[in-house]
Amino acid sequence: MQTHEIRRRFLDHFVKSGHTEVPSASLILDDPNLLFVNAGMVQFKPYFLGQQTPPYDTATSVQKCVRTGDIENVGVTTRHNTFFQMAGNFSFGDYFKQGAIEHAWTLLTSSQDDGGYGFDPERLWVTVYLDDDEAHAIWHDEIGIPEERIQRRGMADNYWSMGIPGPCGPCSEIYYDRGPEYGVDGGPEADEDRYLEIWNLVFMQNERGEGTGKDSFEILGPLPKQNIDTGLGIERVAFLLQGVDNVYETDLVRPVIAKAEELSGRAYGAKHEDDVRFRVIADHARTAAMLIADGVNPGNDGRGYVLRRLLRRIVRSAKLLGADRPSMLEFMTVVRDTMAQSYPVLDTDFARISNVAVGEETAFLKTLASGSKLFEGAADAVKASGATVIGGTEAFTLHDTYGFPIDLTLEMAAEAGLTVDEAGFRTLMAEQRKRAKEDAQARKHAHADLSIYKELVDRGPTEFTGFEEFVSEATVLALVKGGVRVPTAAAGEDVEVILDRSPLYAEAGGQIADTGTITAAGMRARVGDVQKIARKLWVHKVTVAEGQITEGDTVLASVDADWRKGATQGHSGTHMVHAALRQVLGPNAVQAGSLNKPGYLRFDFSWQGALTEQQKQDIEVVANEAVAADYAVNTFVTDLDKAKKMGAMALFGENYGDEVRVVEIGGPFSMELCGGTHVGSSAQIGQVTLLGEQSVGSGVRRVEAYVGLDSYKHLAKERALLAGLSSSLKVPADEVPARVEALVDRLRVAEKELEQTRAKAVLAAASEFASKAQRVGAVRLVADKAPAGVGVGDLRSLVADVRGRLGTDPAVVVLLGDADGKVPFVVAANKAAQDLGVEAGELVSAFGPKIGGRGGGKGDMAQGAGSDLGGVDAALDAVRARVAEIAEGR
Ligand code: SER
Repeated sequence: MQTHEIRRRFLDHFVKSGHTEVPSASLILDDPNLLFVNAGMVQFKPYFLGQQTPPYDTATSVQKCVRTGDIENVGVTTRHNTFFQMAGNFSFGDYFKQGAIEHAWTLLTSSQDDGGYGFDPERLWVTVYLDDDEAHAIWHDEIGIPEERIQRRGMADNYWSMGIPGPCGPCSEIYYDRGPEYGVDGGPEADEDRYLEIWNLVFMQNERGEGTGKDSFEILGPLPKQNIDTGLGIERVAFLLQGVDNVYETDLVRPVIAKAEELSGRAYGAKHEDDVRFRVIADHARTAAMLIADGVNPGNDGRGYVLRRLLRRIVRSAKLLGADRPSMLEFMTVVRDTMAQSYPVLDTDFARISNVAVGEETAFLKTLASGSKLFEGAADAVKASGATVIGGTEAFTLHDTYGFPIDLTLEMAAEAGLTVDEAGFRTLMAEQRKRAKEDAQARKHAHADLSIYKELVDRGPTEFTGFEEFVSEATVLALVKGGVRVPTAAAGEDVEVILDRSPLYAEAGGQIADTGTITAAGMRARVGDVQKIARKLWVHKVTVAEGQITEGDTVLASVDADWRKGATQGHSGTHMVHAALRQVLGPNAVQAGSLNKPGYLRFDFSWQGALTEQQKQDIEVVANEAVAADYAVNTFVTDLDKAKKMGAMALFGENYGDEVRVVEIGGPFSMELCGGTHVGSSAQIGQVTLLGEQSVGSGVRRVEAYVGLDSYKHLAKERALLAGLSSSLKVPADEVPARVEALVDRLRVAEKELEQTRAKAVLAAASEFASKAQRVGAVRLVADKAPAGVGVGDLRSLVADVRGRLGTDPAVVVLLGDADGKVPFVVAANKAAQDLGVEAGELVSAFGPKIGGRGGGKGDMAQGAGSDLGGVDAALDAVRARVAEIAEGR
């Protein structure tokens, strides 16, 4: 049975019995504790906790999930996957244990002709929580599972929570016995490879508190209702029903491996190391595509870093498999072809998704190329010094800076006939891991600090009055200083103020916070920043200027009107630039982030490659024409579906509620979901001036612009600059470009002349050096100081030239220079000298140490540099001695 069919049957089964089908949530939900959505219940958490009333009593979904904790094990075993689909049915106070068990059993064991999965009931085992007699009785008495196939297990296995405070409860798991060839008898208690868990039924009835691990946390008490949360692993059911050994061999994953086999010319199943790489590619390509589809872009921290790692591991694995050209596009294409039936976005957004993935591949291949250079340099140096081991430090730099996995370094070293100090490498890695862990712990504490606001968040959201008024009366609900509640704060103190309502905009959606004041009789405080906690609590960061502010005070909160005016220009300007960008570049230019403040905006979007001058000009023209058209700005609230149908643009990965606010400027010209503050009509934005465009990471570009008066000031500054240039070049302004061009041309000619003169001087020196050649045995030897200031490049031509002039009898040339405080050197030996046994590379080791020099090369030519000018004479003597030793057989 195909995976798409397994999903469909699950949803159909539950929809038929009255469940509402809910689409998968984005992989990115706004939860600081969760990098990615990792279970079907995540989007329903507020319903379980009783924080929100669910719009249905029962629901079913197939949730996309990503778990990257075990990324290193992906492919090494066949059990680990970073992307999977969790099918679930949920009851919010409707049915409980009995309903959940009956539903699961029917779907699993009904024949395939009847819409079920057709599992043999004799091969199914179940587990229940230690004292859950009720679940035990249902399985035993009503479903009829014999006592010996029901096992009772403790908290670590059969009590489910998210690992953090939230809903929790005992669970009952259903396992499939794959048969004695997969492990020992004795049920899941004995072997979880043979007995494979396919479905977890959680009886969500309690709320868990702080704690660690799976079994040491406090249970705070019962939830308002008894709920059901189940999770069935679609991929696991797929490989069981498809009669293959593991998820990598299913209909949705195997094709990616097949593509990698085709590109690399190697076969899956032939060699363990290669199989690991095949599986890494197959697993990561799916996960990466799904993450990009949900708006993640490669970056250096958080989610972006995970994505970057996944993509780089694909590139590295393909390279290690021997694929000799970029292959990301082909992997992404297979993922699209296999997965789009369930996830149409992979098809509709394919250009964007593949652009991001290929962009990262291109960038990483470049890094790999520079890393390879570093590797070759290190390998040459090791060889020149006569050793055979590449240092742990070099291997670590290759890993850390250039993203080289150690196995790649090992392989390259082996090809060069060298080995690597792996122990040294591992010590450095361990040190780095320790630092990262300490870092992560520090960050965790930063989250924990938010607990002080929990009670306030629970009281309900701050009412935002700032769309209607600039001044509002409000009550001080709490004051927080240095992470603790304080009753009062006096003049000179910085404190956080939480109000029940506020007209000040809290930073969100790219718009920075309003500034303003909080006042009362005899008290004045300046608001420097406003941040939202848990999306609903406004925290005003203030400095008390006069008097004293106290919890419970009635105050006036006021927005700085000028600041707000500038901020609205910035934010509406951002919408103008976004709309213009999509008009000029098309729908693949998807917003990736933005920031706006009075007078200035920046806008990030996914796009490959730099914009052309023409595109930049066009964007500016479209935006300014829309400003000049003086479009009315309308805002209204509607539901998400309606807004999307109207064509309103939403930010990828953003978790919108059911009700959304739409900001429309000029009808269809610009329509976005947005909670920000805006101008009344587009002319109020003023002139929009693009400042430039740059890359801010792979596949993401950034435009910046000034709006309003700042736009004018910027242009005025440029005008003054041009006036200055025109006066120093003594030409009218419009002739400045031609004059600069002419000057640059003249400079180029002068530089060329200089270069030729220098080359001539070097060549003249060549004949002089050749005439000074000494005889050392059969060898004609030039060992001398090069003219001062000649760098290694010119030195190389000079030495080659001298060697040429010495003819075909054995000849060796060694010149040591003096440039920039260093001793560049080049050694050349002709064919006849090499036949006698004088090797250029080998000569370097004879004299290098005298000048603190390193370098290397081959038999005919070697080069490098030393740092000790004082050792030049001794080095030249060493050259003569060594040549004599060989030439005269001493
Ligand atoms: N939340 C449970 C799990 O993730 C069941 O859906 O296993």
